[in-house]
Amino acid sequence: MTLTSWAYDVAEGLLADSLPKRWAHSQQVYRQALDLAPMLGDDADLLAAAAIAHDVGYADVAVSTGQHMIDGGRYLQRVGADRRLCAVVALHTSSPWEAAELGLSDALNEFVPVPGYLVDAITYCDLSSSPDGQPVDPEDRLEEVLRRYGPGHVVFRAVSAARPELLRMVQRVRDGVTASSAHELN
Ligand SMILES: [Fe+2]
Repeated sequence: MTLTSWAYDVAEGLLADSLPKRWAHSQQVYRQALDLAPMLGDDADLLAAAAIAHDVGYADVAVSTGQHMIDGGRYLQRVGADRRLCAVVALHTSSPWEAAELGLSDALNEFVPVPGYLVDAITYCDLSSSPDGQPVDPEDRLEEVLRRYGPGHVVFRAVSAARPELLRMVQRVRDGVTASSAHELN
C-alpha cells in the first residue's frame, strides 16, 4: 500500500461524512499535488499523502489544541503515520505563524525536519484550492481567509503576518514547475 492510499483512507474516514466541505477542499489539494508529481520524483507520494490528509486536524477525534495543523500532525503520529507525513501536515501553510500567535511554537519541534520544498509544495497546493474544492488563485484565497475570519481572530493575524512569505512559497513552486517543464521539452 502506498503512503497516499493509506492517507486517503484515513482522511476520507475522518472528513467525508462529518466535514464534507473540508473533504471537497482536501480532494482539490490532492489534485494539485498530483499535478506537481513530475517535479517531485520520489517525494510525489509523500506530497500527495500530505495533501489529502493536511486538514484531518479539523476532525473531532483529532482536535486538541485547536491549531489544526499541529492537531492533524499529532493525530497522524498517534495512528502510526510516516513521520515525514506528520511533519508536512503539521507545518503546512500558515502553521508557524498561527503556532506563534497561540504560544504553540514548541509543539512544531515534535516533528522531524522536512525539506523546505515540501512545505512550499503543500502550501502551494492548499492556497491554490478554494474552501469548497475549486482551483483558485492563491492571492484571492488569502483574501478570502482574511475576510472569513476578520480582524481580531488569531487566523487573521497569523495570515496577515504570513502572507508575504506564503506568496514567496507559491512563487518558488511556480518557478519549479516552469523549470521542470522546460527541462522536459529539452
Ligand atoms: Fe487546507
